Amino acid sequence: MERKYIVKGQKPLKGEIEVSGAKNAVLPAISATLLAPGIYKLKKVPKVRDVFCMLKILKHLGADFNFEKDELKINTQNINNVSVPYELASQIRASVLFLGSLVSAFGEAEVPLPGGCKIGKRPIDFHEKGLTLMGADIKLKHGNLIVKSNKLKGCEIVLDFPSVTATENLMMAATLAEGETVIKNAAKEPEVVFLGKMLKKMGADIKGCGEDTIYIRGKKKLKPVNIEIIPDRIEAGTYLVLGALLEENEVVVKNVKKEYLETPLLKLQEIGITIKEIDKRSILVKRKGILNPCKIITAPYPGFPTDLQPIFAVLLTQAQGLSFITENLFENRFLYVYELNRMGANIKVEDRTAIITGPTPLAGSPVKATDLRAGAALFLAGLCADNTTTIYNVELIERGYENIIEKLSKLGADIKIEVI
Ligand code: UD1
Repeated sequence: MERKYIVKGQKPLKGEIEVSGAKNAVLPAISATLLAPGIYKLKKVPKVRDVFCMLKILKHLGADFNFEKDELKINTQNINNVSVPYELASQIRASVLFLGSLVSAFGEAEVPLPGGCKIGKRPIDFHEKGLTLMGADIKLKHGNLIVKSNKLKGCEIVLDFPSVTATENLMMAATLAEGETVIKNAAKEPEVVFLGKMLKKMGADIKGCGEDTIYIRGKKKLKPVNIEIIPDRIEAGTYLVLGALLEENEVVVKNVKKEYLETPLLKLQEIGITIKEIDKRSILVKRKGILNPCKIITAPYPGFPTDLQPIFAVLLTQAQGLSFITENLFENRFLYVYELNRMGANIKVEDRTAIITGPTPLAGSPVKATDLRAGAALFLAGLCADNTTTIYNVELIERGYENIIEKLSKLGADIKIEVI
């Protein structure tokens, strides 16, 4: 059932908001459960649409799962299928993460080629090239990638760009391969490091996660594990900006790992937001007076995350002067700009850079989410705009933000959900 959110803006938000487990850490973890048959227990798993979609795929492959509170039990003892169905794969790009684990564990995988998506072309050539170098035979048949290999062989792979899911896929593939795999120019995101930790716990011989080069010596067998998912740094960044939007706000964001957010926290300080550490995992954000404009350039971790640029754009519409956001990862990640401009923002996009002139008051308007983070940005804009903002396509927001309505309502936000 399609729904819309109706947000009454400019309500002061006060209180604590807790960050859930990281969606982008759970998705590869779900795929990794295929590497060793058995029972896994994942803790702090967010109940978001993308996680349910990956679980539906896993079920189709023959696994069972039980999801109670934030604990997810997965049983992969009876996998009987290596083919990911198009209806599910087309809903989630991360379905490509099944390539590495399926071919490594079962010698075969059939995964629909993910189509282009709204934020950019997002090809998967690095995944394909890496697996081919490891000896896999890859064919495209009727829109599906058919990958076969009797035994993957360790080799040296140099990624053209430190792609997150390509690094994760190749790490999983290498854990059961013959000999050593070296992945150079690997992604260093905390979610990649988390996957490395899980694989290591499963018995994999893996070194260098979080560095440029990852070394994996293949093992004959791995074992299932229990593991706790790391906090979601993008959700945390979203709520830190939320707390900084209005002077009256007094928001403490809990379950934040500061070391995952160094660049966004520095940017918030540059903008003039006070960041107060309440305890090791809690941050109070406070806005006082005029906000400074700033320059943001998205880059692989530890650079500024592309997923947070739409969120920061909303804050920068309230800063005094010219701000610049340069997007280096996804070519279509400025679709939210047109919606923000309809609310009264003054943003021009030139090539890969959005130029924001501020401050501009935002006016409540009907708006449409174009992707997950764009949707979150429009939600934030609605919370600082006057009158009422109606957000359409909210299913996209629910792909990655657990209980967002409940969490924000507890802070005092006035939000209604209506079925369309
Ligand atoms: C992951 C995240 C996503 C985040 C992104 C960047 C998951 C499930 N998703 O996506 O939320 O926005 O990292 O931090 O973790 N590229 C290629 N060929 C490839 C692979 C990637 O050209 O085979 C390019 C992409 O088009 C993009 C860049 O590399 O320009 C980085 O993309 P990548 O890190 O792969 O993003 P995802 O892993 O898809």
